[in-house]
Amino acid sequence: MHFYLDPGGSLTGSIRVPGDKSMSHRAIMLGSIAEGCTTVSGFLEGEDALATLSAFREMGVKITDPQSGRLTIDGVGLRGLEPPTRVMDVGNSGTSIRLMAGLLAGQSFDSILTGDESLLRRPMARVITPLSQMGALISSHEGCPPLEIQGGRALRGTHYDMPVASAQVKSSVILAGLFADGRTSVTEPAPTRDHTERMLNGFGYTVDRDQGVISLEGGGSLEGTDIDIPADISSAAFFLVGASIAPGSDLTLEHVGINPTRDGVITILRAMGADIEILNERQVGGEPVADLRVRHAPLKGIEIPVEAVPLAIDELPAVLIAAACAEGVTILRRAEELRVKESDRIASMAEGLSQLGIENTVQPDGIEVVGGDLSGGVITTHHDHRIAMSFSMAALRASDRIKVSDCAHVATSFPGFADLALQTGLRLEVAEE
Ligand code: S3P
Repeated sequence: MHFYLDPGGSLTGSIRVPGDKSMSHRAIMLGSIAEGCTTVSGFLEGEDALATLSAFREMGVKITDPQSGRLTIDGVGLRGLEPPTRVMDVGNSGTSIRLMAGLLAGQSFDSILTGDESLLRRPMARVITPLSQMGALISSHEGCPPLEIQGGRALRGTHYDMPVASAQVKSSVILAGLFADGRTSVTEPAPTRDHTERMLNGFGYTVDRDQGVISLEGGGSLEGTDIDIPADISSAAFFLVGASIAPGSDLTLEHVGINPTRDGVITILRAMGADIEILNERQVGGEPVADLRVRHAPLKGIEIPVEAVPLAIDELPAVLIAAACAEGVTILRRAEELRVKESDRIASMAEGLSQLGIENTVQPDGIEVVGGDLSGGVITTHHDHRIAMSFSMAALRASDRIKVSDCAHVATSFPGFADLALQTGLRLEVAEE
């Protein structure tokens, strides 16, 4: 599937992008091991979260088919999962495999997790190391999936000082900690998304947070609950950038999760001069939510504050499109984690920006982008959903047609992107080839 984008246009109206991916994964995982019924609304019916859902069904959990983002999970309790009868394939989803590795390390049965071509290249040592320290036995293919997780291991609570700022690693250790004997604690080098901690609290499980140390006691229980998942700020980010760069734009994004560990994109775009208003701020199920109104504004290049990088990690490809349309140079550093996402996002962005005539310099841990005039061109997505959607927005300021080839992976995080984008004014055409 390819996207063809005619140049120009503006983004207007009011839309709600699909539910938060990180929270959707966690709702399935925690709802499955809770006691009693959990209801979920706002669930993201994208391929990644559906892969998590299928895996838990495979382990005997009854989960209704999602309908307009609503589903019900019949929790089996901390010790109630059944051995899977086959290898669990989680497709493109790094969150599924890393979080589930922690959860499965504490089970009485063996399990195997695998994924697609992109996932088979992604580093898993980052979770295997701390989980092994807790007593888990996990084998991999040279540090990459498939992961073979041995059951029946008695996990012990330990302290892990994380070398990388990763919510997936933190969450994997926390989930293993539920099954461990004693106390498990983690320190992170910089704050990362805290949905696991917040959602566990929502399920009545105490997770302590004290000066950067996150800890919990193993062996408690989770109580089924009702979860309302807000719209994903990572999906909203493409529209925040699109409306910022396209003259005449005035777009409202409804009910967006603005958790302070996820709002780096707003901080960065505002520092570049973006006009983003946060309206109707409210709390929904322990998570801050707001409507975001964004209007076109002239942007300027900035040095992206390093502390904002982990808080905007998935939004940085979109931010680099804003950088391409800004006056002056934007410098992104200390973002080497981008190299191990669904594609090497520093390389993918550099290649695409060069295709559109935007000068850039790649560094081992980042990129410098010189704002300028965008031409048309052909973009290779490297099977990466966020590269596809970022470059779709670039068309709003391009002088000629853009072809974004190979966009099927957009469905992993943002089903319905093309229709919603079209509705707001993006001149997008889908070609099934
Ligand atoms: C996620 C954490 C981030 C992010 C990913 C989702 C999560 O990954 O990039 O899309 O749900 O915990 P890292 O933990 O590897 O930074």
